[in-house]
Amino acid sequence: MLLDLLHWLVQPASPAARRLGYAGDSVRLAARSQRCRAAWAPHLAAAKDAVRAAMDDLPRRDTAVVLGSGLLDDVPIDDLAGAFRRVVLVDAVHPWRGRLRARGHRNVARLVHDLSGTRDLLLGRGEGFGPVLPPVCREADLVVSANLLSQLPILPVARLEAAGRLGPWTDPEAFGRRIVAAHLDALAGLPARICLVTDRDETEEDRAGRILERIDLLYGVDPGPAPREWEWVLAPFGEVARDRRLVHGVVAWPDWRGWHDMGA
Ligand SMILES: C[S@@+](CC[C@H](N)C(=O)[O-])C[C@H]1O[C@@H](n2cnc3c(N)ncnc32)[C@H](O)[C@@H]1O
Repeated sequence: MLLDLLHWLVQPASPAARRLGYAGDSVRLAARSQRCRAAWAPHLAAAKDAVRAAMDDLPRRDTAVVLGSGLLDDVPIDDLAGAFRRVVLVDAVHPWRGRLRARGHRNVARLVHDLSGTRDLLLGRGEGFGPVLPPVCREADLVVSANLLSQLPILPVARLEAAGRLGPWTDPEAFGRRIVAAHLDALAGLPARICLVTDRDETEEDRAGRILERIDLLYGVDPGPAPREWEWVLAPFGEVARDRRLVHGVVAWPDWRGWHDMGA
Protein backbone atom coordinates (compact mmCIF):
# COMPACT_ATOMS: atom_id res chain seq x y z
CA MET A 1 0.00 0.00 0.00
CA LEU A 2 2.72 2.42 1.08
CA LEU A 3 4.85 1.34 -1.87
CA ASP A 4 1.92 1.95 -4.23
CA LEU A 5 1.48 5.44 -2.77
CA LEU A 6 5.17 6.23 -3.30
CA HIS A 7 4.95 4.83 -6.80
CA TRP A 8 1.90 7.04 -7.48
CA LEU A 9 3.75 10.11 -6.22
CA VAL A 10 6.72 9.58 -8.54
CA GLN A 11 4.61 8.41 -11.47
CA PRO A 12 5.24 10.72 -14.47
CA ALA A 13 1.55 11.63 -14.94
CA SER A 14 -0.35 14.82 -15.72
CA PRO A 15 -2.63 16.42 -13.09
CA ALA A 16 -5.65 15.34 -15.20
CA ALA A 17 -4.43 11.71 -15.33
CA ARG A 18 -4.02 11.78 -11.53
CA ARG A 19 -7.40 13.39 -10.96
CA LEU A 20 -9.23 11.01 -13.28
CA GLY A 21 -7.62 7.91 -11.76
CA TYR A 22 -5.38 6.81 -14.67
CA ALA A 23 -2.19 7.29 -12.65
CA GLY A 24 -3.55 5.15 -9.78
CA ASP A 25 -4.74 2.43 -12.17
CA SER A 26 -1.32 2.35 -13.80
CA VAL A 27 0.36 1.85 -10.41
CA ARG A 28 -2.04 -0.97 -9.53
CA LEU A 29 -1.52 -2.60 -12.94
CA ALA A 30 2.26 -2.52 -12.48
CA ALA A 31 1.99 -4.05 -9.01
CA ARG A 32 -0.39 -6.79 -10.10
CA SER A 33 1.62 -7.66 -13.18
CA GLN A 34 4.65 -8.18 -10.90
CA ARG A 35 2.74 -10.32 -8.41
CA CYS A 36 1.09 -12.38 -11.16
CA ARG A 37 4.00 -12.52 -13.61
CA ALA A 38 4.02 -16.33 -13.88
CA ALA A 39 0.25 -16.48 -14.50
CA TRP A 40 0.39 -13.61 -17.00
CA ALA A 41 3.40 -14.85 -18.98
CA PRO A 42 1.46 -16.94 -21.57
CA HIS A 43 -0.96 -14.05 -22.20
CA LEU A 44 1.80 -11.49 -22.65
CA ALA A 45 3.70 -13.82 -25.00
CA ALA A 46 0.56 -14.46 -27.10
CA ALA A 47 -0.19 -10.73 -27.32
CA LYS A 48 3.38 -9.96 -28.45
CA ASP A 49 3.15 -12.75 -30.97
CA ALA A 50 -0.02 -11.20 -32.48
CA VAL A 51 1.82 -7.87 -32.91
CA ARG A 52 4.79 -9.61 -34.55
CA ALA A 53 2.40 -11.37 -36.94
CA ALA A 54 0.88 -7.98 -37.80
CA MET A 55 4.32 -6.63 -38.77
CA ASP A 56 5.35 -9.67 -40.78
CA ASP A 57 4.22 -8.96 -44.35
CA LEU A 58 3.52 -5.26 -44.00
CA PRO A 59 4.84 -3.67 -47.23
CA ARG A 60 5.53 -0.19 -45.77
CA ARG A 61 7.05 0.27 -42.34
CA ASP A 62 7.32 3.95 -41.69
CA THR A 63 5.14 4.64 -38.65
CA ALA A 64 3.69 2.30 -36.04
CA VAL A 65 1.35 3.56 -33.34
CA VAL A 66 0.65 1.60 -30.15
CA LEU A 67 -2.57 2.56 -28.36
CA GLY A 68 -2.61 1.70 -24.64
CA SER A 69 1.14 1.09 -24.57
CA GLY A 70 1.34 1.47 -20.77
CA LEU A 71 4.02 -0.74 -19.23
CA LEU A 72 4.92 -2.26 -22.63
CA ASP A 73 4.43 -5.68 -21.01
CA ASP A 74 2.50 -7.01 -23.99
CA VAL A 75 4.22 -5.03 -26.75
CA PRO A 76 7.41 -6.24 -28.55
CA ILE A 77 8.93 -2.78 -28.46
CA ASP A 78 12.41 -3.84 -29.62
CA ASP A 79 10.95 -5.52 -32.72
CA LEU A 80 8.73 -2.55 -33.52
CA ALA A 81 11.51 -0.02 -33.02
CA GLY A 82 13.82 -2.12 -35.19
CA ALA A 83 11.31 -2.48 -38.02
CA PHE A 84 9.70 0.99 -38.26
CA ARG A 85 11.22 4.41 -38.86
CA ARG A 86 9.23 5.68 -35.89
CA VAL A 87 7.04 4.21 -33.20
CA VAL A 88 4.54 6.37 -31.34
CA LEU A 89 3.31 5.13 -27.96
CA VAL A 90 -0.05 6.52 -26.88
CA ASP A 91 -1.51 6.28 -23.39
CA ALA A 92 -3.10 8.40 -20.68
CA VAL A 93 0.00 7.63 -18.58
CA HIS A 94 3.49 6.54 -19.58
CA PRO A 95 4.82 4.80 -16.48
CA TRP A 96 8.49 4.40 -15.65
CA ARG A 97 8.56 0.73 -16.58
CA GLY A 98 7.36 1.46 -20.12
CA ARG A 99 9.85 4.33 -20.41
CA LEU A 100 12.71 2.08 -19.30
CA ARG A 101 11.74 -0.61 -21.78
CA ALA A 102 11.79 1.90 -24.65
CA ARG A 103 15.02 3.60 -23.61
CA GLY A 104 17.80 3.28 -26.14
CA HIS A 105 15.34 3.55 -29.06
CA ARG A 106 15.69 7.07 -30.40
CA ASN A 107 12.83 6.50 -32.84
CA VAL A 108 10.24 5.86 -30.10
CA ALA A 109 8.04 8.82 -29.12
CA ARG A 110 5.40 9.10 -26.42
CA LEU A 111 2.08 10.86 -26.71
CA VAL A 112 -0.41 11.48 -23.90
CA HIS A 113 -3.96 11.22 -25.19
CA ASP A 114 -7.32 10.25 -23.72
CA LEU A 115 -8.37 7.40 -25.99
CA SER A 116 -11.89 7.18 -24.55
CA GLY A 117 -12.78 10.69 -25.72
CA THR A 118 -14.45 11.36 -22.35
CA ARG A 119 -11.79 13.51 -20.68
CA ASP A 120 -13.69 16.81 -20.94
CA LEU A 121 -16.97 15.20 -19.92
CA LEU A 122 -15.28 13.71 -16.85
CA LEU A 123 -13.61 17.00 -15.96
CA GLY A 124 -16.90 18.88 -16.38
CA ARG A 125 -15.50 20.91 -19.28
CA GLY A 126 -17.89 19.87 -22.02
CA GLU A 127 -20.94 17.84 -22.96
CA GLY A 128 -19.65 15.82 -25.89
CA PHE A 129 -17.02 13.23 -26.74
CA GLY A 130 -13.56 14.40 -27.80
CA PRO A 131 -11.44 12.80 -30.55
CA VAL A 132 -10.77 9.20 -29.54
CA LEU A 133 -7.61 8.82 -31.62
CA PRO A 134 -4.69 11.24 -32.08
CA PRO A 135 -4.06 12.52 -35.64
CA VAL A 136 -0.81 10.52 -35.96
CA CYS A 137 -2.95 7.38 -36.41
CA ARG A 138 -3.91 8.62 -39.89
CA GLU A 139 -0.23 8.67 -40.92
CA ALA A 140 0.50 5.20 -39.56
CA ASP A 141 1.15 1.96 -41.45
CA LEU A 142 0.35 -0.12 -38.38
CA VAL A 143 -1.89 0.76 -35.44
CA VAL A 144 -1.85 -1.63 -32.49
CA SER A 145 -4.64 -1.51 -29.93
CA ALA A 146 -2.86 -3.31 -27.10
CA ASN A 147 -5.19 -4.74 -24.47
CA LEU A 148 -6.90 -1.38 -24.28
CA LEU A 149 -10.48 -1.76 -25.52
CA SER A 150 -11.97 -3.27 -22.34
CA GLN A 151 -10.08 -0.73 -20.21
CA LEU A 152 -11.49 2.33 -21.94
CA PRO A 153 -14.93 2.36 -20.27
CA ILE A 154 -13.79 1.41 -16.75
CA LEU A 155 -13.00 4.81 -15.20
CA PRO A 156 -15.61 6.82 -17.17
CA VAL A 157 -18.39 4.35 -16.28
CA ALA A 158 -17.32 4.36 -12.60
CA ARG A 159 -17.48 8.18 -12.64
CA LEU A 160 -20.93 8.16 -14.20
CA GLU A 161 -22.13 5.62 -11.63
CA ALA A 162 -20.81 7.83 -8.82
CA ALA A 163 -22.15 11.11 -10.26
CA GLY A 164 -25.48 9.85 -11.64
CA ARG A 165 -25.06 12.05 -14.72
CA LEU A 166 -22.22 13.19 -16.99
CA GLY A 167 -23.38 15.73 -19.55
CA PRO A 168 -26.30 14.03 -21.31
CA TRP A 169 -25.31 10.52 -20.07
CA THR A 170 -27.21 8.79 -17.27
CA ASP A 171 -27.15 5.09 -18.30
CA PRO A 172 -23.77 3.47 -17.48
CA GLU A 173 -24.39 0.54 -19.85
CA ALA A 174 -25.13 2.80 -22.81
CA PHE A 175 -22.17 5.00 -21.92
CA GLY A 176 -19.81 2.00 -21.76
CA ARG A 177 -21.15 0.68 -25.06
CA ARG A 178 -20.64 4.07 -26.72
CA ILE A 179 -17.00 4.20 -25.57
CA VAL A 180 -16.20 0.68 -26.81
CA ALA A 181 -18.01 1.20 -30.13
CA ALA A 182 -16.31 4.57 -30.70
CA HIS A 183 -12.86 2.94 -30.43
CA LEU A 184 -13.75 0.25 -32.97
CA ASP A 185 -15.39 2.76 -35.33
CA ALA A 186 -12.33 4.99 -35.17
CA LEU A 187 -9.99 2.06 -35.88
CA ALA A 188 -12.17 0.94 -38.78
CA GLY A 189 -11.85 4.39 -40.36
CA LEU A 190 -8.04 4.36 -40.46
CA PRO A 191 -6.04 3.50 -43.58
CA ALA A 192 -3.43 1.57 -41.52
CA ARG A 193 -3.30 -2.14 -40.79
CA ILE A 194 -5.01 -2.60 -37.42
CA CYS A 195 -3.73 -5.11 -34.91
CA LEU A 196 -6.40 -5.51 -32.24
CA VAL A 197 -5.76 -7.43 -29.03
CA THR A 198 -8.41 -7.25 -26.33
CA ASP A 199 -9.95 -9.18 -23.51
CA ARG A 200 -13.63 -9.72 -24.09
CA ASP A 201 -15.09 -11.35 -20.96
CA GLU A 202 -14.25 -12.16 -17.39
CA THR A 203 -15.23 -15.38 -15.63
CA GLU A 204 -14.99 -15.95 -11.93
CA GLU A 205 -14.24 -19.60 -11.16
CA ASP A 206 -13.93 -21.69 -8.00
CA ARG A 207 -11.35 -24.42 -7.43
CA ALA A 208 -13.73 -27.05 -8.82
CA GLY A 209 -13.83 -25.15 -12.11
CA ARG A 210 -17.39 -23.96 -11.56
CA ILE A 211 -18.20 -20.62 -13.15
CA LEU A 212 -19.64 -18.29 -10.52
CA GLU A 213 -20.06 -15.23 -12.70
CA ARG A 214 -19.36 -14.09 -16.23
CA ILE A 215 -19.08 -10.42 -17.26
CA ASP A 216 -19.06 -9.01 -20.78
CA LEU A 217 -16.22 -6.50 -20.69
CA LEU A 218 -17.23 -4.95 -24.03
CA TYR A 219 -20.80 -3.93 -23.08
CA GLY A 220 -22.40 -6.07 -25.75
CA VAL A 221 -20.22 -4.76 -28.58
CA ASP A 222 -18.93 -7.64 -30.70
CA PRO A 223 -15.66 -7.05 -32.61
CA GLY A 224 -16.44 -10.17 -34.67
CA PRO A 225 -14.90 -13.65 -34.90
CA ALA A 226 -11.18 -13.76 -34.13
CA PRO A 227 -8.35 -15.83 -35.61
CA ARG A 228 -6.58 -16.02 -32.23
CA GLU A 229 -8.07 -16.65 -28.80
CA TRP A 230 -6.64 -17.55 -25.43
CA GLU A 231 -7.25 -17.35 -21.71
CA TRP A 232 -5.53 -14.84 -19.46
CA VAL A 233 -5.52 -15.79 -15.80
CA LEU A 234 -5.81 -12.22 -14.61
CA ALA A 235 -6.07 -13.12 -10.93
CA PRO A 236 -4.91 -16.62 -9.97
CA PHE A 237 -6.22 -18.23 -6.77
CA GLY A 238 -5.05 -16.12 -3.84
CA GLU A 239 -4.86 -12.82 -5.75
CA VAL A 240 -8.39 -11.52 -5.10
CA ALA A 241 -9.71 -14.47 -3.02
CA ARG A 242 -8.28 -17.77 -1.76
CA ASP A 243 -10.75 -20.01 -3.56
CA ARG A 244 -11.68 -17.94 -6.58
CA ARG A 245 -9.80 -16.85 -9.65
CA LEU A 246 -10.56 -14.44 -12.49
CA VAL A 247 -9.97 -15.56 -16.05
CA HIS A 248 -10.27 -13.25 -19.05
CA GLY A 249 -11.06 -14.47 -22.55
CA VAL A 250 -8.73 -12.67 -24.95
CA VAL A 251 -9.15 -12.28 -28.71
CA ALA A 252 -6.59 -11.00 -31.21
CA TRP A 253 -6.49 -10.02 -34.85
CA PRO A 254 -3.04 -9.31 -36.33
CA ASP A 255 -4.92 -7.72 -39.24
CA TRP A 256 -8.38 -6.84 -37.94
CA ARG A 257 -9.83 -5.26 -41.08
CA GLY A 258 -8.15 -7.72 -43.46
CA TRP A 259 -9.64 -10.62 -41.52
CA HIS A 260 -13.17 -9.22 -41.79
CA ASP A 261 -12.72 -8.18 -45.44
CA MET A 262 -11.90 -11.82 -46.19
CA GLY A 263 -15.40 -12.56 -44.94
CA ALA A 264 -14.25 -14.52 -41.89
C1 LIG B 1 -4.36 -3.31 -19.41
S1 LIG B 1 -3.33 -1.96 -19.85
C2 LIG B 1 -2.72 -2.51 -21.38
C3 LIG B 1 -1.46 -3.18 -21.21
C4 LIG B 1 -0.31 -2.40 -21.80
N1 LIG B 1 -0.31 -2.59 -23.24
C5 LIG B 1 0.94 -2.88 -21.15
O1 LIG B 1 1.70 -3.63 -21.75
O2 LIG B 1 1.13 -2.50 -20.00
C6 LIG B 1 -4.40 -0.72 -20.41
C7 LIG B 1 -3.69 0.56 -20.75
O3 LIG B 1 -4.65 1.43 -21.29
C8 LIG B 1 -4.44 2.72 -20.75
N2 LIG B 1 -5.71 3.44 -20.80
C9 LIG B 1 -6.88 3.15 -20.18
N3 LIG B 1 -7.79 4.07 -20.46
C10 LIG B 1 -7.19 4.99 -21.27
C11 LIG B 1 -7.62 6.18 -21.89
N4 LIG B 1 -8.87 6.63 -21.73
N5 LIG B 1 -6.76 6.84 -22.66
C12 LIG B 1 -5.49 6.40 -22.84
N6 LIG B 1 -5.02 5.29 -22.28
C13 LIG B 1 -5.87 4.58 -21.50
C14 LIG B 1 -3.95 2.48 -19.35
O4 LIG B 1 -3.24 3.61 -18.87
C15 LIG B 1 -3.08 1.25 -19.53
O5 LIG B 1 -1.75 1.58 -19.80
